[in-house]
Amino acid sequence: MKASELEEGHISTVDLNGNHLLLSRIGGEVYAVSGTCTHEETDLGLGVVLEDRVVCPLHLSQFELKTGVAVNPPATVPLKSFKAKEIGDTIFIEV
Ligand code: FES
Repeated sequence: MKASELEEGHISTVDLNGNHLLLSRIGGEVYAVSGTCTHEETDLGLGVVLEDRVVCPLHLSQFELKTGVAVNPPATVPLKSFKAKEIGDTIFIEV
């Protein structure tokens, strides 16, 4: 996706090499974590953003978008985090 399409405080999902990824832009930087909740495999792309966290739409666990850390139960396992960088209008993710 084009970097300019990912607005501040928003999320977007992309499937890359068999990975379902959740991209976000927080504080101007692009971050990438796994886009599937570690509790019951819900698509976090359907969740809502709350400051720098995504809220799972099924049982409301929150995950830090920068690190993937699970903030509250029922999810306890963090999301996998991927290196992301922006070059020009393109987002590159190391998977
Ligand atoms: S499926 Fe995400 S918290 Fe349960």
